[in-house]
Amino acid sequence: MMKLLTPTKFGAIDLNNRVVMAPLTRMRAAQGDVPGQLAAQYYAQRASAGLIITEATQISPLGKGYPGTPGIYSEEQIKGWQTVTSEIHAKGGKVVMQLWHVGRISHTSHHPEQGLPVAPSAIAPSGQVFTAQWGQAAYETPRAMTQEDILALIHDYQCAAENALRAGFDGVEVHAANGYLLDQFLQNGTNHRTDEYGGSIENRCRVLMQVLEAVIGVWGSDRVGVRLSPYGSFNDMSDSDPVILFNGVIDRLNPLHLAYLHLIEPRSTMAGGSDQVVQDMPSTATLFSERFEGKVLMAGGYNKDNAEEAVTSGHADAVAFGRLYISNPDLVARFAAGAPLTPYDRATFYGGTEKGYTDYPTL
Ligand code: FNR
Repeated sequence: MMKLLTPTKFGAIDLNNRVVMAPLTRMRAAQGDVPGQLAAQYYAQRASAGLIITEATQISPLGKGYPGTPGIYSEEQIKGWQTVTSEIHAKGGKVVMQLWHVGRISHTSHHPEQGLPVAPSAIAPSGQVFTAQWGQAAYETPRAMTQEDILALIHDYQCAAENALRAGFDGVEVHAANGYLLDQFLQNGTNHRTDEYGGSIENRCRVLMQVLEAVIGVWGSDRVGVRLSPYGSFNDMSDSDPVILFNGVIDRLNPLHLAYLHLIEPRSTMAGGSDQVVQDMPSTATLFSERFEGKVLMAGGYNKDNAEEAVTSGHADAVAFGRLYISNPDLVARFAAGAPLTPYDRATFYGGTEKGYTDYPTL
């Protein structure tokens, strides 16, 4: 039997197998950024995964950067997520919520009352942003966060973690990858601060550590994971020395005894936003997985064969699949049967309704 199909444990969370559904933004939330009945159906269809990680979910209005992404700061949102978690649990699945703040990857149209997007430093990303009207615009230059803003941010994470607990999740994943706010603090291409939140690695890790302290206070460390993307360039990210930085991050995560560390391979361009595989990228599994003392979840460009290789070689305890989970709701059964996989249709990744969302076939 494939090791991929054997059970494991992430902290206090029991996984029936090591095939994990990666977090996947699908931009189909209803009015008020509430996940609807269709989202509950979509996730329940994928409940045979060892663990489902939800699409990135904004902790506050200011944390939003795309149209149609769900939140976890209002009563209606909590109710919507309660339906999702109970349908997954009814099918024997496990699910954690990915907590998200986009930082500078936003536009005023998403949060007109709060104004400009915020970031560690006032540096605009290159490229185009999605507006609230599903249009494209040039990125605005974000407002550099004050220390007061950072205190408010930690509070928002704590409230979101409490809301996720009420919504019936099995845990939470703190999204510190792919160029969103916490990653913007970690990497020095986006963090030019001169206060206690910038400069040294200790300082650049400070917001992440404070967020984790708040979230762990709600959940306990054995139900909290973190996602990192060393060498990822999506969302115009860069760091002068990713090895020193991410070794430093992992060294600070180790004493927390988290449920798991989730690492993305940079070979998947644009975080899965393109099908081109970048050759000659360093492997984050090789560089970083052994430094972490707990369970490691690997993602980015995995298929059945290289995933099995990763769990048998010890580079990963489990593997997350993104694009394959979009088009194969019964991915576990297909791996077990050696059955062919359904190809995904990129045109229906974002927005719309059932098409490309809940209508992919099972075996
Ligand atoms: C993603 N990815 C992603 N990552 C994340 O941390 N939060 C998210 O909400 C999303 N949303 C998202 C949407 C879509 C449509 C794609 C294709 C990707 C990245 C994803 O989790 C994964 O890391 C990449 O897709 C690479 O893995 P695969 O697709 O090669 O298995």
